[in-house]
Amino acid sequence: MNFCVLDKVNVALSDMIIKFTFTVILALSQVPFCLMLPRDPLDKPNIIILVADDMGYGDLSSYGHPTQESGPIDRMALEGMRFTQWYSPESVCTPSRGATLTGRLPVRVGLYGPYERVFIPHMPTGLPKNEITIAEALKDVGYATGMNGKWHLGINEFRFDDGNHLPAHHGFDEVGTIAPFTHHARCDEEKKIVSSPEKSYCFFYSNDTIIQQPAAHHNITKTLVYETKAFIYNHENDPFFYMLNFLHLHDSLFAGPEFQASSKRGEYGDNLNEMSWAVGEVLDTLRKLEIEKNTLVLFVSDHGGHIEICSDGGKNSPFRGSKETTWEGGFRVPAIAWWPSMIEGATVSRDIVSSLDILAPPWI
Ligand SMILES: *[C@@H]1O[C@H](CO)[C@@H](O)[C@H](O)[C@H]1NC(C)=O
Ligand SMILES: *[C@@H]1O[C@H](CO)[C@@H](O)[C@H](O)[C@H]1NC(C)=O
Repeated sequence: MNFCVLDKVNVALSDMIIKFTFTVILALSQVPFCLMLPRDPLDKPNIIILVADDMGYGDLSSYGHPTQESGPIDRMALEGMRFTQWYSPESVCTPSRGATLTGRLPVRVGLYGPYERVFIPHMPTGLPKNEITIAEALKDVGYATGMNGKWHLGINEFRFDDGNHLPAHHGFDEVGTIAPFTHHARCDEEKKIVSSPEKSYCFFYSNDTIIQQPAAHHNITKTLVYETKAFIYNHENDPFFYMLNFLHLHDSLFAGPEFQASSKRGEYGDNLNEMSWAVGEVLDTLRKLEIEKNTLVLFVSDHGGHIEICSDGGKNSPFRGSKETTWEGGFRVPAIAWWPSMIEGATVSRDIVSSLDILAPPWI
């Protein structure tokens, strides 16, 4: 046989083998999802923490508010467990959020800013790097991690623009749109409180990059929901940890157009309805992907409502005191845990719990 012909046959054969192998690999790469057995609910459950900003104990209809509309958050309580003695670690944002993420008493880890005990944007300080966050702990055991929304645990460390304290530097691998500081009265777009939003307080980042200053809030809740859903879709087969930190219900109030005038309670109720819609969207996504039995969702407020600002500031009833105070109203918060298959619906827990307990670090 002519060698040239043989060569051609060989080339054709190897070409066929490559094509065949490639087809098999391609086919196999499409099937594992069908072959995969459902994960046991206790096998690395997904964890989602949804944090409301400045929401008081008495703000939800499920916690006894007389005029607030009942919505998806209240439905979450009906399907899960509602806590009546859940305490925030502090009554202002920075120390409370830092303690929630690390399980450490804020005073022990330097989480006290100079202005109302919180960090302010230009301060080169943040959550100490040697503290282990929930995200870092879960990442170590194979979880995908992500977050968006409010941070308030520092921005820069050494220079004015190094971004060394942003969430990507504390264990969150996928960071969406964030308010590294907080929503604030000085960000008032309605011009009820300030004549225009103050740039040095009002800005959004996407991960480590500043994307908007001053920040526009009309569709921020939609954006946060969109990003959270995208994260869940991308990780439906992984164990994952996600934290959605709402900018609601801190003043100034800012409901998107769909929720304006949606509440008979007024603007605060509109804001709460928008946040409640967002919570419903997250739970519906889990159900749609049929991963709700593998997912613990916790909804909690960072501390009590800011009742001094009257109708803009929520209700801590039946307790006395407010955000920034050591009264019960500053610390006792609404908290709901949802995990179909593991948590029985419509249960009420009267146990004393703190957000400090979310992470019970063995290293402390
Ligand atoms: C987010 O920022 C961190 C730190 O700068 C970087 O390592 C990471 O790749 C960034 N993620 C994305 C999706 O850009
Ligand atoms: C929010 O509004 C901005 C324009 O102001 C737009 O670019 C963005 O796509 C909107 N996001 C969502 C999720 O609708």
